[in-house]
Amino acid sequence: MRLDKFLSDMGAGTRSELKKDIRKGNASVDGVTVKDPGFSVSPSSRVIYKGSVIGYDEFEYYMLNKPAGVISASEDDREPTVVDLITGLKRKDLFPVGRLDRDTEGLLLITNDGALAHRLLSPKHHVDKVYYVKVSGILTGSDVELFGEGLVLTDGLECLPADLRIISTSDEDYESEAEITIREGKFHQVKRMFSSVGAEVIYLKRLSMGSLSLDPALVPGEYRPLTPEELSSLK
Ligand code: URA
Repeated sequence: MRLDKFLSDMGAGTRSELKKDIRKGNASVDGVTVKDPGFSVSPSSRVIYKGSVIGYDEFEYYMLNKPAGVISASEDDREPTVVDLITGLKRKDLFPVGRLDRDTEGLLLITNDGALAHRLLSPKHHVDKVYYVKVSGILTGSDVELFGEGLVLTDGLECLPADLRIISTSDEDYESEAEITIREGKFHQVKRMFSSVGAEVIYLKRLSMGSLSLDPALVPGEYRPLTPEELSSLK
């Protein structure tokens, strides 16, 4: 690949800035200064740019604890996105794997690995997604049964069987807490499922997706790279 692409993929700057800097002699490849932005390099080349060694990773994987108030998109002209929360040197082709609503918190994988994203999101693969949910309303054993049988929503959408585990109910606050595991990811799915049994979701947080669980050390807005173990079990 071209030297300027190698550097821009790794977040060192825009292609036009990089071209200028390379022409000025700010980059070297395998110990030799290279002034041609189109010079051919490979992921294993030792590239130094402005004094720093820039390693090449084809793919990057971050676990983000999405805060409420940001949208699940790569970029947006008006609103902060989940990819804006990944700071520092970063590649330009990162995207979130799936969407959480603006007011939903919790686990979101950010990567540039389209094949992995496709596998995790494909309706064929039925990847488990676990959410913690707080609803206005009192959940009961009959809701657990209905969810387990596969709800049919008021608009006719047939949901796959989902596991509902009630954590607590409070008659005084008219609220319940629960964990729900779904195996599909239709638009506003969890909110629509609870709404169909008369409960309004007031807080929603994704706890896991397939084998990947949200690191409890991450506060909303924080992220970290996946560990090699997390990545290999996801794959
Ligand atoms: N289901 C929803 O309703 N919202 C989300 O953000 C995720 C799942």
